[in-house]
Amino acid sequence: VDCTVTSRFAHTVMTSVALNRANTSQEIFFDVELPKTAFITNFSMEIEGQVYVGEVKEKEKAKQQYEKAVSSGQTAGLVKASGRKMEKFSVSVNVAASSNVTFILTYEELLQRKMGKYEILTRVKPKEPVQEFKIVADIYEPQGIAFVDAHATFLSNDLLPLVEKTVTDKKAHISFSPTLEQQRKCPGCDGTLIDGDFLINYDVNRAQSLGDIQVVNGYFVHFFAPPDLPRVPKNVVFVIDKSGSMGGRKIAQTREALLAILNDIHEEDHFGFVEFDDKIVPWKESLSKATTENVAEAIAYVKRIVDVGGTDINAAVLKGVDMLIKDKQANRLPERSVDMIILLTDGMPNSGESHLPKIQENVRSAIGGNMSLYCLGFGNNVDYAFLDVMSKQNNGVARRIYEASDAALQLQGFYDEVASPLLSEVDLRYPDNTVEFVTTNHFSQLFNGSEIVVAGRLADNDLDNFLVEVYGQGASAINWNVVYPDEEYIFGDFTERLWAYLTIQQLLEKSKTGSSDEKGNATAKALDMSLRYSFVTPLTSMVVIKPETEDSTEAPLIANKLTEGKRGKGMKAENLFLPNRLHNSGLVCHSGSAILGQQLQDNLPGAF
Ligand SMILES: *[C@@H]1O[C@H](CO)[C@@H](O)[C@H](O)[C@H]1NC(C)=O
Ligand SMILES: *[C@@H]1O[C@H](CO)[C@@H](O)[C@H](O)[C@H]1NC(C)=O
Ligand SMILES: *[C@@H]1O[C@H](CO)[C@@H](O)[C@H](O)[C@H]1NC(C)=O
Ligand SMILES: *[C@@H]1O[C@H](CO)[C@@H](O)[C@H](O)[C@H]1NC(C)=O
Ligand SMILES: *[C@@H]1O[C@H](CO)[C@@H](O)[C@H](O)[C@H]1NC(C)=O
Repeated sequence: VDCTVTSRFAHTVMTSVALNRANTSQEIFFDVELPKTAFITNFSMEIEGQVYVGEVKEKEKAKQQYEKAVSSGQTAGLVKASGRKMEKFSVSVNVAASSNVTFILTYEELLQRKMGKYEILTRVKPKEPVQEFKIVADIYEPQGIAFVDAHATFLSNDLLPLVEKTVTDKKAHISFSPTLEQQRKCPGCDGTLIDGDFLINYDVNRAQSLGDIQVVNGYFVHFFAPPDLPRVPKNVVFVIDKSGSMGGRKIAQTREALLAILNDIHEEDHFGFVEFDDKIVPWKESLSKATTENVAEAIAYVKRIVDVGGTDINAAVLKGVDMLIKDKQANRLPERSVDMIILLTDGMPNSGESHLPKIQENVRSAIGGNMSLYCLGFGNNVDYAFLDVMSKQNNGVARRIYEASDAALQLQGFYDEVASPLLSEVDLRYPDNTVEFVTTNHFSQLFNGSEIVVAGRLADNDLDNFLVEVYGQGASAINWNVVYPDEEYIFGDFTERLWAYLTIQQLLEKSKTGSSDEKGNATAKALDMSLRYSFVTPLTSMVVIKPETEDSTEAPLIANKLTEGKRGKGMKAENLFLPNRLHNSGLVCHSGSAILGQQLQDNLPGAF
């Protein structure tokens, strides 16, 4: 695994060589899990000296090409669970006796800053000791590296010293390459200790300014996360589903998370609760300031929340919105403060208004862009796509809470990310005549520990007039502006790919949340750019065609496309019809549209 990071843009190449030692041909699997936020950009296989390289095609065209290559068929497909942060890529190929195969997978991702750090996650599950096992990461950050930490979920005290780390001012090199013997569970046995996540966390140095701008080959990228800003008080209404389905562990975990949140709440914040099933019951009609007495009262209240009844999401969210609006109008809330609603639900609306588009419309028009709505979907029975669109339509994000023993920690973790708003209505402005194709440059919030990234193309290479201005509302009004100095020399063309990655992600988001005109337009543009920059997105597939071979016993290539069921009911593999014998075998890999929903869910406004 070879990962190169240039200014948060990570380019990872996974190479796997397998030798078939048997005296008969055998099927060899290449199973990889990669981060959901990553796009595959290349895949190739080398079999008996021949290299087969994948090509990114429009999904429909890829399918046609594939079907053309396939004459008779058999069904192949495996159901595999996906992790919380990872997406599975799986290929198998038949390899002749005593010959080998090399798989090379490349993917790219923009690392997002969360809670004050970037994370590079590599999942390694080789299943047996590997002759030449190696994870290498090279990080180059022009702003300077503040810290780097590397660890793994599987590292024993024996393996820990094998992680090598060299950090200089702007560069870090991390490597981990245990020998065959060091990987073994016990001397001489086939079990391996290597099984889990290898994690690298780091952050960069930040000056008290409008951030860092890097220009390479005519594209710029602007990273904005000023240090030491005071937090802005927030007004938050927790809208809590207590319908029957929340019964048992889920409601207990919700109580546990709310209690932890209340214990941490800042005194200048205001908060309120709306409990709902088929009835809507606010704790109090107005929000309360987080004084010691009010928090104590709320703790007693939260301990009494129990499950009962149906699910009226529409009325519950509207109630929360109404409370915030009324309190704001009555001047009960601080003038400079951030308004948000955090909805926690585990089910489908089945009481009151239950037509999903109607609920989205009601909520959007009630909020009118004046507050953020965060939706937490608990467990597998929520319509996650519905929550995802609804939160994005209202300056927020959705997050999936997995039903597991750590659900309370997941809830708390999400809250921590949004607990400290630093700025709202952040506008990053660049002179019209010097830049074009700029990615989103308005963000409703910047949270402590996150980062705003904007990229674009320079209209001409004259940087003399590159004046950047940032406006935002903080604890006090803030406006930085500075003339950007010299062009800095950075290796490679990462700024252009970073710009393309960000643009595609934002277009894909718009293709789900925009008006119907915007949707079509955004989809067409996203497709065009995915093809131009060779990204496997929900709109494209990668096809590997193996040319005709003499050997008609050639077995098929199998690609499992794992998509998330509509209602989030686990993962299902989409079956691809594969021939038993073929002259032209086709391999298609894609990432499903539902997976993209997942992929975008982790983005906080302010993080993008
Ligand atoms: C293949 O190997 C097995 C044992 O490893 C042996 O029994 C068999 O005879 C071999 N077959 C051929 C065709 O060499
Ligand atoms: C994809 O990988 C193949 C083989 O590793 C390489 O030859 C090719 O240049 C790569 N394509 C791109 C666009 O990087
Ligand atoms: C893989 O096969 C090629 C040619 O068949 C050979 O040159 C190479 O050494 C083999 N690699 C390994 C690791 O066995
Ligand atoms: C922001 O987070 C850092 C730690 O990541 C902390 O030291 C700092 O006090 C926080 N600032 C505010 C305003 O909460
Ligand atoms: C949003 O805020 C603006 C400005 O305060 C106000 O004019 C508008 O009516 C508000 N929208 C809603 C739906 O409350």
